[in-house]
Amino acid sequence: MDLSAVAVPHTLAHLKPLLPAPPAHVLEAGCGRGALAVALADLGYQVTGVDRDAEMAAAATGRGLPVIQADVRDVSGEYDVVLFTRSLHHADDLDEILGHAVTLLAPGGRVVIEEFAWERVDRAAAEFLYDNRALLVATGLLDAELPDGDLLDAWIDGHDFLHQGSAMLDALERAGSGLTIVPTPMLWRLIDGRGGAWTEPAHAADALNTLHQAETRRVAEGTLPAIGLLASVHR
Ligand SMILES: C[S@@+](CC[C@H](N)C(=O)[O-])C[C@H]1O[C@@H](n2cnc3c(N)ncnc32)[C@H](O)[C@@H]1O
Repeated sequence: MDLSAVAVPHTLAHLKPLLPAPPAHVLEAGCGRGALAVALADLGYQVTGVDRDAEMAAAATGRGLPVIQADVRDVSGEYDVVLFTRSLHHADDLDEILGHAVTLLAPGGRVVIEEFAWERVDRAAAEFLYDNRALLVATGLLDAELPDGDLLDAWIDGHDFLHQGSAMLDALERAGSGLTIVPTPMLWRLIDGRGGAWTEPAHAADALNTLHQAETRRVAEGTLPAIGLLASVHR
């Protein structure tokens, strides 16, 4: 089940203040199946997707987008925004990919990233994530793996091979100027884990929106860390 219909509006709400007005030209670097790219195109942006994965590039092309199947580091051209949404945490070389992204910017352009800082997950965050996942699995709404043993250890074991948020922010700051960072809720988007499957799409959307609200409130109260980050630099 594709939950992008739930996720994209939340991403857009955070993203819009960082973007120039349409019809600015946006390169979505690691566009996946293109859900966000299509939403940006619907807002009037000129969007080009790039994804190195053939299946992803084909899926995004099938939605009517211009898509380049390539590694971001091999793309040329000039864009007002180069946008990475959760496509950096596996990057081979953060300095290389972000350094190249900055060279693609038109005057006044920005590189924007939406990512998560796995190292900010503390015990309260791990319990929020896995206790809510267990509840969703128990109700039959979600089919997903549940961790054995200590929840914080399980989180760390499942994520410590990814770039940390701090490493991505440091690389972004080295690549450009004027780093801005907006913390965002993100645990709700990770609730189904890798490979989890929802059984009832309509109820899944309600559950995700409820979790988003709960996480947003706790982040504002200071009882949960903000795991998500939206950050940008200019040339
Ligand atoms: C987790 S998915 C995110 C997809 C989409 N941006 C979203 O938010 O739903 C990451 C995508 O980035 C792509 N990707 C990762 N590194 C890339 C690179 N260096 N060049 C091109 N695509 C890349 C992967 O193939 C994958 O489709």
